[in-house]
Amino acid sequence: MKEKLQNIRNQAISLLNDVKELKALDEIRVEYLGKKGQLTQVLRGMKDLSPEERPIIGQLANEIRDEIEQKLEEVKNLLILKEQEKKLKEEVIDVTMPGRKRKTGGRHPMNLVLNEIVEIFLGMGYKIAEGPEIETDYYNFEALNIPKDHPARDEQDTFYINQEFMLRTATSPIQVRVMEKQKPPVRIICPGKVYRSDAVDATHSPVFHQIEGLVVDKNITFADLKGVLEVFAKELFGEKVNVRFRPHFFPFTEPSAEMDVSCVVCGGKGCNVCKGSGWTEILGCGMVHPNVLRMAGIDPEEYTGFAFGMGLERLAMSKYGIKDLRLFVENDIRFLKQF
Ligand code: DAH
Repeated sequence: MKEKLQNIRNQAISLLNDVKELKALDEIRVEYLGKKGQLTQVLRGMKDLSPEERPIIGQLANEIRDEIEQKLEEVKNLLILKEQEKKLKEEVIDVTMPGRKRKTGGRHPMNLVLNEIVEIFLGMGYKIAEGPEIETDYYNFEALNIPKDHPARDEQDTFYINQEFMLRTATSPIQVRVMEKQKPPVRIICPGKVYRSDAVDATHSPVFHQIEGLVVDKNITFADLKGVLEVFAKELFGEKVNVRFRPHFFPFTEPSAEMDVSCVVCGGKGCNVCKGSGWTEILGCGMVHPNVLRMAGIDPEEYTGFAFGMGLERLAMSKYGIKDLRLFVENDIRFLKQF
């Protein structure tokens, strides 16, 4: 029995000396020390020994178990250490290596212009209002005093979803939605996407952006409109810019006008960007038509208002001297990083 125990010890120790992986350690532990392990089995045979032999064999067996356990622990620690060393070696960082340069993103020119415009109007006490991109015939046309036979309603201009619904062709319907809910004074701007059935070219796109403005209060006059829009133009394009108002027609305003700014490229002398005129048209505006006020539940005898609407792409183009609006959506980094 002594011999058997010695054999078990020698086998276990020599196995442990050769172990290369932590996983194998557990197998050895089970094989020798486990419930069904070799050592345990020998100990089971102890009951057949004489009372004199029993304590001697018992002591030896205990010593061998302790020795194997100790060895297991030793090997385990050694293997863990080795594994750590290996990992450290694999993961060395060469701190002298040159860094990889990250390209930073930037704001899109459209957002730059939008933020600037929003800031200007927030500074004058305006609030921001938004509305749905899918509109009803009522809000997109009817409530804006656009009669049934008006050319703007033509299917060639408007993306109809069905007889009742369409993609909004302007941000103007937001005016109506706000006036229906809010008693004057109203002072809002409404930025948003609008849709028109236009073919894409350098100055047209079926999707573009507008900013609508609306002021309704007692005693609002065309002078207020001119004052606000002139301040706005000077803030956006610089103190030197000149503005002029030309009479125009919109169904939802009366009187109506378009506002031009002196060409940002030539300063008004005339160049190929302004086609020699020295002016660039940037928005439509006017005094809110009494019919529009009335339909929205506001008494035109008590209140008056002005409204304006401008295309954001157009503004960004004249501010930055961009000649083709397709550049805004092509996401060419060489274009975008100039702003
Ligand atoms: N809705 C007009 C357009 O789509 C822009 C516009 C003109 C809006 C005059 C207005 C306005 O509020 O008063 O071209």
